[in-house]
Order: sequence, then C-alpha cells, then structure tokens
Amino acid sequence: MKYVFGNWKMYLDHKEAVSLASEVATLQFDASKTKVAVFPSMLSLTAVGEALHESGVAYGAQHVAWTPRGAYTGAVSAELAHNAGATHTLVGHSERRHVFGETNDDVRKRLEAACSTGLTVVLCIGETREDLDEGKREYRLKKQLLKALDGVDADAISLIVAYEPVWAIGNSGDGTPCAPAEAEEVQSWIKTELVQYGFTDVPVLYGGSVNAQNVVSYMSLPSVDGVLVGGASKQFESFREIIEAVAAM
Ligand code: PGA
Repeated sequence: MKYVFGNWKMYLDHKEAVSLASEVATLQFDASKTKVAVFPSMLSLTAVGEALHESGVAYGAQHVAWTPRGAYTGAVSAELAHNAGATHTLVGHSERRHVFGETNDDVRKRLEAACSTGLTVVLCIGETREDLDEGKREYRLKKQLLKALDGVDADAISLIVAYEPVWAIGNSGDGTPCAPAEAEEVQSWIKTELVQYGFTDVPVLYGGSVNAQNVVSYMSLPSVDGVLVGGASKQFESFREIIEAVAAM
C-alpha cells in the first residue's frame, strides 16, 4: 500500500476545506493500492467527511486530546473525533511539539487515547536543525519513538510513522526538502528501530516540502511507503498531481 496524506493545518476556512474535499472526492485511483487521507481542521471534520462520502478518501484529526470528555475548554478528544467519523489522527506533529510546546509525555498520552478509540495513529517524529548540527538526529528520533511506543502492544495499535525533519517543513521549518538519499537512510534506520521494539510492517511516510515535482523521487525509495504533505495539499491542482503521480507508480 502507498500513502498520500494531506495535512491541511490551519490553512483553509470551513468553506474552502469542504470545497477542496469535494474536489478530492472526484479523483479516480485504485484505493486498494493507494490510501489517501486528509486532515482538516476540527471545525470542518464532519463536513469534510460528508463531502468525501463513498469516495474512498479517509479523513482524520490533526491532533486529539487524551481525556474522552469533560471540562477541557478548547479541546477535542480522540473519542469525539472518532465519533465524527475520523479514522486517523496525527500525533506529535512538529508544529504541536515546537509551536505549542507538546512534550513526549503529551504525545504518548494522545497516542494511547487515539489507539484505545480505534483511530490509526500517524506518529510524527523529526529532528530540528539544531539536533542535526549537533549530530543528534538518531538520538532525537530514538527518544521520540521510544517515549511514544515503549510498552505499547504492537498488536493493539494501528500505527503509521511519519518522518518529518523539522528543518524540511515548509513555513514552520526552513522549507529545505531533505535529499531523497538522506531520507532513505533515515527511514531505513527508523524501520529497523521499529522492528527492534516489536513493531513490524509499520508504514513509514516522509514529510517536509513534498510537492508534485519531487514526490516521485521520494516514493521511489524502498523505505518510503508514502508522503505526508502540508502546503502542497491545500490546493486541489497540486494535491491532485501528487495523488495521481503516486497512484501511477
Ligand atoms: P509541508 O508540511 O509539506 O508544508 O512541508 C508537511 C507537514 O508539516 O506535515
């Protein structure tokens, strides 16, 4: 299976998100070979779900709170997202970690909550430019993986890992895409780590300035199972080109 996931961040208002979802719903691709999912803002989750109805395109939350319900102003839980039809959630996206100050402990709690409601978790990990300059890439990734997954029953979680070097993310990072050969080296290392922790066959996606021009160079790599796309997923034309390029491979 190949994966094309679109992280719409806070780019689109409600009307724009529903309109983009309606366009994405018209795309023809073999859903048994390519899994497409979009991650709209919570405000538009239900309406995007309705717009995608029967298209084979999944949708998920960008972020979930761990307590199912209660007095948590501003929060939306994994349970509520699941009840609204979400099948996936991002957990630990770099903007959550670095803009909103989420810790590895927060990430772990969100992962457990998502897992217990039956959502597929897209666990995002990635080193900062500073980590890279200090030679701490593997240290950072290992820490993020272990804090999120140590002791988690591999049979009880539907897991996807997204490697998104913080420095390679458009807008919030430098927007310098990671060279494909470098992405391959890191992703192959991540896969080996996951197997050592008992997680076999976990898809590993690459994210960070993926666009219609470079997507094939990432998707041709043996350790890249899919892409998590931010900026280039918020307009129909570029998202369509990415989906069609991946589906044609
Ligand atoms: P980008 O974002 O494609 O705009 O770099 C990717 C992400 O943050 O998931």
